[in-house]
Amino acid sequence: MATLVIADDDRAIRKIVRDRLTAVGHVVEVAENGREALGLIERVEPDLVLLDLQMPELDGIAVLDKLPKQPGAPLIIVITAHGSIEVAVRAMKAGAHDFLSKPFEAAHLEHVVAKALETRRLRRDVGVLRGEVEARHHLVLGGSSRMREIVHLAERAAASDATILLDGESGTGKEVLARAVHAASRRADGPFVAVNCAALSADLLESELFGHEQGAFTGAVRTKPGRVEMAAGGTLFLDELGELQPALQARLLRMLQEREFERVGGTRTQKADVRILAATNRDLETAVSTGEFRRDLYYRLKVVALRLPPLRDRREDIRPLAAHFLSRFAREAGRPTPPLDDRAATLLEDYAWPGNIRELANVLERAIVLGAGDLITVDDLPEELHERAPDGSNANTSVPPRTGYHDAVAAAKREILRDALRTEGGHQTRAAKRLGLTQPYLARLIKNLQIKQEDG
Ligand SMILES: Nc1ncnc2c1ncn2[C@@H]1O[C@H](COP(=O)(O)OP(=O)(O)OP(=O)(O)O)[C@@H](O)[C@H]1O
Ligand SMILES: [Mg+2]
Repeated sequence: MATLVIADDDRAIRKIVRDRLTAVGHVVEVAENGREALGLIERVEPDLVLLDLQMPELDGIAVLDKLPKQPGAPLIIVITAHGSIEVAVRAMKAGAHDFLSKPFEAAHLEHVVAKALETRRLRRDVGVLRGEVEARHHLVLGGSSRMREIVHLAERAAASDATILLDGESGTGKEVLARAVHAASRRADGPFVAVNCAALSADLLESELFGHEQGAFTGAVRTKPGRVEMAAGGTLFLDELGELQPALQARLLRMLQEREFERVGGTRTQKADVRILAATNRDLETAVSTGEFRRDLYYRLKVVALRLPPLRDRREDIRPLAAHFLSRFAREAGRPTPPLDDRAATLLEDYAWPGNIRELANVLERAIVLGAGDLITVDDLPEELHERAPDGSNANTSVPPRTGYHDAVAAAKREILRDALRTEGGHQTRAAKRLGLTQPYLARLIKNLQIKQEDG
């Protein structure tokens, strides 16, 4: 379902377009001339505009020239009189996406519109994805000397092909650091391939890593290259390496020593052109002493060892990280970044963060999504942060309990959203407009407040 604008001075064409496209579920707005079209486009921000080139007031080319061309702008399909191909070409040069020549069949109209909407959807997905991936892997370097030391060491190690072992509690940023090492290495243009060693059974993991030949085991219907091959020229990130089974520990050791491997069921030896980065939140030294992890492999892996400190041991990093997450999540919500009030910042600094940076990110995402918007205060932070007050300064003995307040605010928001969705017949884009929100932000609210659309 999309929002479209049809701009044509011919009433019959406007009617056909509106009837056909409304029938397949789109919202269609109508303009009779170029000037009207411009106003309408600005107001409804359509996904697609069908634009007649010969119109009074302002012709189609003039409208095209005046329309924004940024990535999120609507796609334009121009409608031309039969036989005027040069005009259509000129329109495409001026930024139109496609054209329809009059007279056209209704089925052809539907086809051209569906194709254009698909293009727009793909473009938007790619754009959003690219932006998110970059923001998610961005490494913030706070003020703590421990982190500066680690990053300095990582930078020096990045230049070599040395294996690096990253350890630290869950959520301390091992993967973020691994990606930063890859990006700073001479393999940066090659792939970064991650494998989670805890997610698969030993057999599956073996074939996932090294690949397999056709018929190597039941179900191996065709030859499949493994992650080691996919990472050729780049970096192989072995996450949760502490969970690796003994048989695989032996195979991995061999690959590290000889820089060679074979696919499962294969006889051909291949070169392993990968740099290995490994992460674990398990204490490998203990696992070695209990015999669960091979000592020789452990020493091979920790040519360079980087231990990421828990967030509670580097409190100077909390404010800069908080600022980073607030701006990232506000940008994703299409809103200006709200400042963090000083008491709220102190509360963040005092908390123990058992889930480390991941927990901090979650708390701030929640504050952005559920908060009123212009300032993040202690009221936007979850209950568990208020509970711990070692020096008494933040003890909530003098403050009334907050559970009731948060629940009431969430309930009120749910009610407002449900109401708007109901009024707009479940149409999110229109409900968002009605509430003065962007559609992605509304979608996020719906998800976070766990609103079921059928409720509306
Ligand atoms: N230095 C940092 N700057 C910005 N964001 C960070 C930083 N460190 C961690 N994060 C964020 O915190 C979250 C957890 O980081 P990451 O996945 O790297 O942790 P991890 O140590 O691999 O955790 P686990 O052991 O649970 O896999 C991610 O969302 C990541 O973007
Ligand atoms: Mg991780």
